[in-house]
Amino acid sequence: MALLSVNVDHIATIREARGVDEPDPVLAAGIAELAGAEGIICHLRMDRRHIKDRDLSLLKKVVKTKLNLEMAPAKELVGIALDIKPDVVTLVPERREELTTEGGLDVAGNKEEYKKVTDKLKEAGISVSFFIDPDPDRIGESLNAGADIIEINTREYSEARKESDILRNLEKIKEAAKLASRLKLKVHAGHGLNYVNIKRFSSIPEIEEYSIGHSIIARTVMVGIDQAVREMVKLVSQF
Ligand code: PXP
Repeated sequence: MALLSVNVDHIATIREARGVDEPDPVLAAGIAELAGAEGIICHLRMDRRHIKDRDLSLLKKVVKTKLNLEMAPAKELVGIALDIKPDVVTLVPERREELTTEGGLDVAGNKEEYKKVTDKLKEAGISVSFFIDPDPDRIGESLNAGADIIEINTREYSEARKESDILRNLEKIKEAAKLASRLKLKVHAGHGLNYVNIKRFSSIPEIEEYSIGHSIIARTVMVGIDQAVREMVKLVSQF
């Protein structure tokens, strides 16, 4: 049985669109846990465009399942992670101008740096996950750098539209999951997964956990607008 971890970044994105204090990703995290999420994920970006330091420290206090901090392996962020001590840190590459994480880590190109960061985090009792493309070389490199978990980047699969491309990408993910599992790495997957494209993953039992954000927050807005409007109609109809 695979588990779901919910990424609450885009609750914060809506808040930041107005620069106010709602909706609160911390409150959303609690509700997600009550609904059965087995973990909460947030990405503290260098530019703090959605999740803020305040969110991270409150999430650490209130999350009862497992807090997974996504971050670039940058000195400032490593310091914050060592201070907050989330259960898991997922290392991701970060380009300031990107709309969202664009690809997996270049592990081979940064192996000393990643190993040093990983060792530091693990010494502090934090599990370390590497966000990587579904490539056998990346898996070996992640293992050598000390990763406990790999998160397979499902972006290419999610963006594929032709059936042949979907199947080719799914096969790559399947092979990567099998190899990582044989090497005793925990296997997570995420990026661009939604209520439709997740269905094909029933054929990959090696994936223990899914990291999903945007599609869940998008659905939150759609399934919630009916009740939200009814409540406001009721209020104004009393005037
Ligand atoms: N995993 C990683 C490493 C990510 O960077 C993201 C996006 O923040 C996700 C999973 C979740 O992707 P999505 O929001 O498309 O579900």
